[in-house]
Amino acid sequence: MLKIGVLVSGGGTNLQAIMDKIKSDNINAEIVSVVSNRSKAYALERARNNGIEAVFISKKEAGSQEAYERALVKHFKDRNVDLIVLAGFMVILGSTFVKAFENKIINIHPALIPSFCGKDFYGLRVHEAALEKGVKVTGATVHFVNEGADEGPIILQKAVEVRDDDTPESLQKRVMEEAEWVIYPEAIKLIADNKLIIENNKVRRIG
Ligand code: GRF
Repeated sequence: MLKIGVLVSGGGTNLQAIMDKIKSDNINAEIVSVVSNRSKAYALERARNNGIEAVFISKKEAGSQEAYERALVKHFKDRNVDLIVLAGFMVILGSTFVKAFENKIINIHPALIPSFCGKDFYGLRVHEAALEKGVKVTGATVHFVNEGADEGPIILQKAVEVRDDDTPESLQKRVMEEAEWVIYPEAIKLIADNKLIIENNKVRRIG
């Protein structure tokens, strides 16, 4: 059984979708701990409501980025976590964390990478940029995390149509409902079933 650790900062709708799908689709995985850098993140409440350990680990108390990453690594290593799922985690992770879980961290980005991604693109800004450009299709991407921002190997993508009357908010909502909540659990299932290998910085599906 794949042991998952989740990092969150906000509302946790992706976390909710993952918890629900693990149950309804019998995914061979278990979320063992949900950690947030914000004590009041609603995502922590969602975890507790599902009987999952929910922990606030303060970046401020850790004192430095490096010390914070070491604290997160220790937390998840102590729980023998096999996969780290970033679900709206608003802290950029550096080499200490990424090296400790090499090829074992995944993230979801609310656009079709390589469009509208990189360090300045998060939250509503991603959807504003898509509307400014006038793209007709956007979507979401699940990818492995390496030390570059949104640069790791792509696991799954799903397209969502942009409507003429979309606002950043309406587009954000549809991208979540139609793409993020669908492909994030799917990617976790592929990993839990050992269906993915990374070759030349690309993901290949096997079996
Ligand atoms: C999502 O839009 C996700 O793509 C991005 O952060 C947001 C998290 O939302 N990485 P939620 O906390 O899962 O509701």
